Amino acid sequence: MKTEIEQIHEENIDQSVIDRAGEIIQNGGLVAFPTETVYGLGGDALNEASSGKIYAAKGRPSDNPLIVHIAEIDSLARIAAKIPEKAVALAERFWPGPLTMIFEKAECVPDATTGGLGTVAVRMPSNKIARALIRASGGYVAAPSANLSGRPSPTQAKYVIQDLDGRVDMILDGGASEIGLESTIIDLSGENPVILRPGSITEEMLKEVVEDVGMDPGILGEESNEAPKAPGMKYRHYAPLGNLAVVEGRQDQVAAYINGRLKECREQGKKCGVIAADETAAGYLADSVKRVGKREDECAIAKHLFQVLREFDDEGIQVIYAESFDSKGVGLAVMNRLLKAAGHQVITV
Ligand code: TXA
Ligand code: MG
Repeated sequence: MKTEIEQIHEENIDQSVIDRAGEIIQNGGLVAFPTETVYGLGGDALNEASSGKIYAAKGRPSDNPLIVHIAEIDSLARIAAKIPEKAVALAERFWPGPLTMIFEKAECVPDATTGGLGTVAVRMPSNKIARALIRASGGYVAAPSANLSGRPSPTQAKYVIQDLDGRVDMILDGGASEIGLESTIIDLSGENPVILRPGSITEEMLKEVVEDVGMDPGILGEESNEAPKAPGMKYRHYAPLGNLAVVEGRQDQVAAYINGRLKECREQGKKCGVIAADETAAGYLADSVKRVGKREDECAIAKHLFQVLREFDDEGIQVIYAESFDSKGVGLAVMNRLLKAAGHQVITV
């Protein structure tokens, strides 16, 4: 398949490009597009065959459900069988934006979209290109992150092109993602709301709107006996090509340990990299040292994490050590993704 690549500017959207992209989705095709979190791989959420194509293009197991993206709050009633009061309050506060809510699903949502589950995940993104595309596509766009299954989620169109060129009909290039990590997922289909995937909308922010928010116990732990409630969280994820380990402990000891290992790597002729906070990056001797942001600035770290994992791949880095970051606030989402990317290889010094 020939993939058409179109540049598009959020502040000056070319409607003719959006109309063509919308037509592709309405006709059962696939379009990758920017959102404020990461790029999405979109197809018609209410068309079973389109969801099948999404799984095939990503190489994703078909028991891993897709998020349905809407552009208007009024669209929710058609796909959610029940909309609890708490969801209305959360939508008022956080939509459009990086929050995905899980509802009991309505009949019209095909099993192929929800991976056979009786629930449906719904998000209303704030990115204007995404919203224009959803409107032009009939209002319901199923979109997982636009990466091949297992790879870091793409925060720039060039990484979507790397993974999906020739596998989708069109890629809309709308520049770098603002947030850089996927949306927070909260399950509202049970008695109490439960966070299934942390993101830039934090537990504290959610609790300002609804008090009794729980947290899926699998979020930082290695696969526990209990399967994570978001099926996608059980798969190996976000992995760079090189071997990545996270090192935690007192900062001077972390640096000493990593530098020791880097020396060994160099002696073995391996290309090595480090992920570090701005404050400590200068202290490492590696082929590639990536600074992700100031230690206190969790949002900057979130924004750069997937990007640096992809850069290591482009540079052919074989061994990667990452500093550990504070898991408070948005830091929980950062550590959740970093630990998954490392396959939970953690070295405590
Ligand atoms: O920010 C985002 O959410 C991005 C952009 C494109 O919107 N999308 C995204 O989709 O991250 P994806 O498919 O990469 O991750 C969706 C996650 C998976 O872990 C999946 O298992 C979970 O959401 N999920 C979807 N529907 C679910 C449901 N009904 N119940 C529980 N988990 C669900
Ligand atoms: Mg994903």
